[in-house]
Amino acid sequence: PIVALVLAGGTGTRLYPASRSDRPKQFLSFGEDESLLAETVSRVGFADETYVLTRDSFADGVRERVPNAAVLTEPEPKDTGPALAYAAHRIREQVGDCVLLCLPSDHRISGPFETVARTATRVAVETEGLVTVGIEPDRPATGYGYIKPGPSGNGFAPVETFHEKPDRETAERYVEEGFYWNAGLFAWTPTALLSAAESSPLAPMVERLNEDPKAAFDAVGPVSIDYAVLEEAENAFVVPAALDWDDLGSWDAFERVLDSQDGNAVLGDAVTIDADGNVLASDGHVSAVGVEDLVVVSFDDRTLVVPKDEAQRVREVVSELRDSG
Ligand code: GDD
Ligand code: MG
Repeated sequence: PIVALVLAGGTGTRLYPASRSDRPKQFLSFGEDESLLAETVSRVGFADETYVLTRDSFADGVRERVPNAAVLTEPEPKDTGPALAYAAHRIREQVGDCVLLCLPSDHRISGPFETVARTATRVAVETEGLVTVGIEPDRPATGYGYIKPGPSGNGFAPVETFHEKPDRETAERYVEEGFYWNAGLFAWTPTALLSAAESSPLAPMVERLNEDPKAAFDAVGPVSIDYAVLEEAENAFVVPAALDWDDLGSWDAFERVLDSQDGNAVLGDAVTIDADGNVLASDGHVSAVGVEDLVVVSFDDRTLVVPKDEAQRVREVVSELRDSG
């Protein structure tokens, strides 16, 4: 069977103040009818079973938004590496042999998703390897993993190198050299993932998966699956996909997914006069006059203003707020 595993344990720090600690970005809908989480779960409607993996404090919010999915909770949020290894172990216990289709819950996707996902699961079964989906880049983004494909055939290619979040210069070179972005969409059998994890920084956790979950999580530090497993994996494969795909990681991403109002990306209500290239998002009303390339966001009486090309720095605000209580 195909088991969909939706990752929904992140908080979406860089989308503050829309996202907050009790309201992570996957719970938000950003102008659509459904939350990103519910959209993700509907997208994998063809799977035989669907699990959502999240932290305890989000579990009720998940059940409310996707009542038909099974919910798995992890004892501690430690990024996607520990989360995916733990889920592989739990699902193998509960379901037995299966192929996992792992998906992030912070993406807008359109295009032939089901075909791509089914190909990825087929390749995972055929190769017994770790399968990722590759997207052709259109800019040297530094927040993604980059994949160098080997010779391709039958809809997939071996991964020659995988480099998570390179710096700008390296990303530019990769785009020129025809690397793919890692879509963050993975297929593998639980056994394939766990054996790759055994020779990774996740090894101390894998050894303790038969003990209580807390002990297993205590044995490792936070690390993403990309750094922990994929960069070093010898049996990774990539399925190139023509998907219209966007990670809603930070406010500048909304430029690509929202309709333009006189050259500005607007979520909620806005008046724009001689304003261009701004991202304006609120649960009320924003006016922008004579300004360019700004992010102006206001939710719950909290306002954020930042130059669009520094939108990644919103995480600094959130740590400042956290430190000052
Ligand atoms: N359950 C759980 N536990 N989920 C988590 C955790 C955790 O501790 N941390 C993050 N997630 C979820 C997030 O909610 C998101 O849906 C998904 O895992 C991916 O995490 P991100 O933090 O958004 O990763 P990223 O965007 O920086 O990078 C990954 O995705 C890119 C594509 O969007 C990497 O796989 C990159 O290589 C890739 O290009
Ligand atoms: Mg992401």
